[in-house]
Amino acid sequence: HRAWAATAPRIPSTRLALHHFDTNYSLQLKELWPSVRAGLLCEQKYGALLNNFSPLDYVTQELELLNATDFVSEALTQAETMIQAETSPPHRASISSNIKCYTFPRGDITRFRPARPDILGLLNYYLMDAASLLPVLALNVRPGDFVLDLCAAPGGKTLALLQTGAFISGCKRYLAANDISISRTKRLHQILRNYVPTEIREAVSVTSCDGRDWGQLGGGTFHKVLVDVPCTTDRHSVMEEDNNIFHKRRTKERQMLPMLQLQLLMAGILATKPGGEVVYSTCSLSPLQNEHVIERAVEIAETQFNISMHVEDLSHFRTVFQDTFSFFSDCRLGELVLPHLTANFGPMYFCKLRRV
Ligand SMILES: C[S@@+](CC[C@H](N)C(=O)[O-])C[C@H]1O[C@@H](n2cnc3c(N)ncnc32)[C@H](O)[C@@H]1O
Repeated sequence: HRAWAATAPRIPSTRLALHHFDTNYSLQLKELWPSVRAGLLCEQKYGALLNNFSPLDYVTQELELLNATDFVSEALTQAETMIQAETSPPHRASISSNIKCYTFPRGDITRFRPARPDILGLLNYYLMDAASLLPVLALNVRPGDFVLDLCAAPGGKTLALLQTGAFISGCKRYLAANDISISRTKRLHQILRNYVPTEIREAVSVTSCDGRDWGQLGGGTFHKVLVDVPCTTDRHSVMEEDNNIFHKRRTKERQMLPMLQLQLLMAGILATKPGGEVVYSTCSLSPLQNEHVIERAVEIAETQFNISMHVEDLSHFRTVFQDTFSFFSDCRLGELVLPHLTANFGPMYFCKLRRV
């Protein structure tokens, strides 16, 4: 009995997370919450991000036989048709098309087999939440852009940034990939080794600094900055006890997240050139970690740094990618992908700011 008393009756962190979300998200998402909740508690869906540095013929053929399709090119073709029919404004130009990501159709829960190495030893695809590509597509990197990925590890989005083809080989370091965690930057190095040829890898500089200090380090030098912050990782928090941010002893850390997110976004803003763009993203549904952080950052940039940030309209993403993802239609700023049983991606929040 004494041993029992000493080890508590402990409530699992996943239960605490679900309780917290039931309280908060039912207010925010109202009648949508039960369906989003069911999505969060069921197996998530993956996308296979093709590795453009590996020969693609065989792998695309194999994926197409399984009935998977590249959701990016599909969406862009559809957008093109809409433009031709003049039913929609021409947004195609603002979405990069080199990224290829295969997904199974809505309602199809088939899983991808693990990636295989090609003759050069590079893996042919990377399995990730397909919604994670939306922030990268929103950033729209162009050849010659200097890009900062402030919270980069384990590196799914860094890899997607490289797949745009905007980074050519040469001695210039075009892509700065940073993450405070040394163990996680090791995983980033591993992904780069497994997917990217040496000459392209040379365009990437990997660092492990506290992203909050970046503003002071290299102020205003980047054309594009991705700020993919640590958050309550809602899907992970309701499913896994391991490394759960809702653990009682991490309460303080969890409550401080919006502050950390704001500091990281501010550093990202300060690292951006005038005219440059920042994309902020989280994998949480929480407005406190999403829209509120954007609003506070815009306000602080204006009042404390005399920097004007314009929140870009990304509603065309909702139109273009509606067949693949289920978007929240009432997001005040930015866009939010909601988990849904027939399209179980996300949550993924993304918002784009332009430094005027
Ligand atoms: C959502 S994850 C990034 C995922 C990554 N972008 C990807 O697509 O694979 C957030 C990351 O922020 C890092 N992080 C936390 N605090 C940080 C800080 N102060 N500066 C930089 N990175 C930080 C964490 O180590 C974690 O790897």
